[in-house]
Amino acid sequence: MRIAILSSEVVPFAKTGGLADVAGALPKALKGQGVDARVILPLYQQIDRSLLSTSIIEDVPVEWRGQIRPTRVYESDAVGAPAYLIDAPEYFATSSIYGYANDHERFAFFSRAALALVKHLDWQPGIVHGNDWPCGFAMIELRARRRYDDFFRNTRTLFSIHNLAYQGAFDPNDLWRLGFGESPDKDDFMLKGVASALKAGLISADALSTVSRRYAEEIQTPEHGSGLDWLLRARRNRLAGITNGVDYEIWNPETDPHIAANFSAADLTGKRECKQDLLRRFGMPEDLDRPIIAIISRLVSQKGYDLIRQIAGAIVQTGSFFIALGAGAKEYEDFLQRWHDSTPRQVGIYKGYAGEPLAHQIEAGADMFLMPSYYEPCGLNQMYSMRYGTVPVVRATGGLDDTVEDFDPARETGNGFKFREYKAGALLEKIREALYFYSKPDVWQKIQLNGMSMDNSWEAAAQKYTQLYQEIIELPYRTDN
Ligand code: ADP
Ligand code: GLC
Repeated sequence: MRIAILSSEVVPFAKTGGLADVAGALPKALKGQGVDARVILPLYQQIDRSLLSTSIIEDVPVEWRGQIRPTRVYESDAVGAPAYLIDAPEYFATSSIYGYANDHERFAFFSRAALALVKHLDWQPGIVHGNDWPCGFAMIELRARRRYDDFFRNTRTLFSIHNLAYQGAFDPNDLWRLGFGESPDKDDFMLKGVASALKAGLISADALSTVSRRYAEEIQTPEHGSGLDWLLRARRNRLAGITNGVDYEIWNPETDPHIAANFSAADLTGKRECKQDLLRRFGMPEDLDRPIIAIISRLVSQKGYDLIRQIAGAIVQTGSFFIALGAGAKEYEDFLQRWHDSTPRQVGIYKGYAGEPLAHQIEAGADMFLMPSYYEPCGLNQMYSMRYGTVPVVRATGGLDDTVEDFDPARETGNGFKFREYKAGALLEKIREALYFYSKPDVWQKIQLNGMSMDNSWEAAAQKYTQLYQEIIELPYRTDN
């Protein structure tokens, strides 16, 4: 089975969030199951060139805006499966992955080039698996292409939603330039007066998936449907929910090279050293008996910072340390700065994208990990936390609801703490509950071990993808969806 995975971010090349972790781990996990999976992404300026191999594919003919644009593609084996990086400096010699006025054009080109590449390699994929709005263009293009291009006649498409709120909206006047000016393509892009690459993908892909079962249900409701719930309800028979896995080669406290001391469920002593190291890094008193509550996230409203802001004072009053790593909206960065300035010995912050080492050091050194998200398609940090004996405190939404079980002291079951209502008071109550059990070391250790023994490896998820791919390959040929 040949699967071409397209993603705008892939670890270890380029990352803003969990999509990169997923796109970096899935190909390798699929390869472990005998699937010929290959990943394709743009070659951004920020990508470490030492990750690329010496083999280069020259002159891939990409049809673009009425001309053939010969495109160079680099190869790499850094993800444990073949990876191809599309070199188009006029679009990708950028300092960030997203955030440009012509993002739609950049990723439309990427989609076009990815399809041109597989054809140039004469590597006929059974499935083109696109992720999030940047790959919506590839989904709709394939629907049209297989009508007239025999090479793609038997290729099916899977479109995975990692976050429905990012819709790739742009001026519909640009549709013509991108090659989607005619109906039905044009109409399939249109959403509330703008063109949306996400909507085009959702309509045109043969099958859809998202990254947890709960989120697959939630996006069919007006509350979490971002204006597309009607479409997801209409296509619910083709919508699967597959929870992401964890790459335990990267996120494993027994072997993690980034942390001060390695540790395991059998021997947690190293975790104390990691805690001390973390306090030192953030210039806080090395008081190892006080709990550290941590958060690592993009600073966007999805992640629940509005709740944290409302109870910042009460969190400090519990006597806990608070450590936050995050990049994003200025209003949240300013809040973190003010909070730190008022209580520098208790609140440690790192504003910006820190790369991998600090994220690992926080996971290893903290006692609790907060994810009070308003919505969370899957969420990876709660699963990383569990493996590092760091107890997650989460809101019952999306993948957080599917992967975290609230601790039950009577049966000593559960791997974290989970609250339902999106209210600051509910979050504070849960933090207090968690702190109560933190003060009982035997019980706390039980909760840690419950989390550490969870198996969230990619193997199970990759098996589900393989099965889904097989089902999609067997779908009847169609040019309308
Ligand atoms: P999302 O994809 O919505 O951002 P996830 O929980 O799926 O949320 O994944 C977030 C990933 O990004 C994790 O690997 C996390 O460690 C990482 N991350 C988020 N913010 C930062 C940051 N500022 N610095 C370093 N890593 C970060
Ligand atoms: C998105 C979601 C996050 C998910 C990640 C990987 O960025 O916000 O919940 O874990 O994609 O699927």
